[in-house]
Amino acid sequence: MDCHQDNSSQGEVLPQPNEFQKLLQSLPIRKSLLNTNLYLYDGSWIGESCLESLIDFQQNFQAQDTDIILVTTPKSGTTWLKALVFTITQRFQYKISDENHPLVTTNPHGLVPFFESYRSIAAGMPRLFATHISYTMLPESIKTSKCKIIYLCRNPRDTFVSMWYFGHQIMSKLDPSSQFPSPEECLEQFCEGVIHYGPFWEQILQYWKLSNEMPEKVLFLKYEELKGDIIAQCKKMADFMNCSFSSEEENDGVIKDIAKFCSFEHLSNLEVNNQTEERSVPRLDNGMFFRKGEIGDWKNLITTSMAEKLDQFVEQKLQGSGLKLN
Ligand code: A3P
Repeated sequence: MDCHQDNSSQGEVLPQPNEFQKLLQSLPIRKSLLNTNLYLYDGSWIGESCLESLIDFQQNFQAQDTDIILVTTPKSGTTWLKALVFTITQRFQYKISDENHPLVTTNPHGLVPFFESYRSIAAGMPRLFATHISYTMLPESIKTSKCKIIYLCRNPRDTFVSMWYFGHQIMSKLDPSSQFPSPEECLEQFCEGVIHYGPFWEQILQYWKLSNEMPEKVLFLKYEELKGDIIAQCKKMADFMNCSFSSEEENDGVIKDIAKFCSFEHLSNLEVNNQTEERSVPRLDNGMFFRKGEIGDWKNLITTSMAEKLDQFVEQKLQGSGLKLN
C-alpha cells in the first residue's frame, strides 16, 4: 500500500511523508545480513538507522583544521585505532600510568564517537571522530579544511570473518529465533557489496588513491602493518598528526608503553570492555569489539577455496591500483 494514500473509505488521512521518508522511498533498497533495511545512498549501502543522522552530519558538520577523522572498513580494527589515536594525541594530558586514564574507564567507542552521534560529544583537542563512510560522502568542510584523515583497512578474509562473527552475535541479540546466514551466503553478499557501508573495495580504493595524491591529508594504514610493527606505525601516525614523539620520549619507552596499553591483551581484559552499554539498539557488549585480534583466523571459518575465490575477486577489483590487501 502507498503510505501517502488518503484512505477515504475509512475517512482517515494518513500522515504525509516528511523529506527524509520521501528520500527513503526514492532509494534502492536491499536487506542486510541482519535482515534490516539497507539503502543505496551516494554509492554506498547505509543502514536505515544511520541514514538520517548521516545526512544531518553531511549537511551541518563544520570541520576544524585540527580535527582528526578516523575512517575504517567495519571490522578492520576501528576500536584499536581509536584507542591508539586517542592515547597518542592526548598523551600530555593523560599519562597512561594514570589509573584513571580515560581508556581504563571508557570503551574506545565512547571516547572517539562515530559521526552519526557527533552532536552529543564535548570537544577535546584535537577533536577526534570516526566513520565508515566513503570520501565521496564526507561533508565539504572536511575536504576543504586542513583536518586530517587516517584510514584503516584489513585483509578481506579476516575482515569478512570478523564481520560474520559480529553479525552472528548481533542477530542472536536482536532475534534469537532467527538464523544468521551461513558463511557461504554471507560471502556472496559481501562480494556483491551489499553490506553496511559497502561496496568495501570502492571505499578502500578511494582512500588509497587519495593517500597517494594527498599524503598530508590522508594516511592509509593496514591492520596487518599495525600488527607487524606497531612502534613504527605509532610513530608514523604521530608524525602525520603533527604530534611526533621526541627522541626523549622514544628513549623513555613511551611508544612501547602506548602500544602495550592499547594492545588487544590489555584492552580486552579491562573491566569496562567487558560490560554492556546502552549505546544503541541492539545493546552491544563492549566485549563484542574484542574477539581474537589475530591475523589469519579466517582459517577457522571459511574453506581455502572460499578464501581463494575472495582473493581473486578482490585482486580483480584492485587491479591497476598498486594496492595489495593479502
Ligand atoms: P577479530 O574479530 O578478527 O578478532 P572493529 O574495531 O573495526 O569492529 O574491528 C574488530 C576487530 O579488531 C576484531 O577482530 C577485534 O578482535 C580486533 N581488535 C580489537 N581491538 C584490538 C586490538 N587492541 N588489537 C588488535 N586487534 C583488535
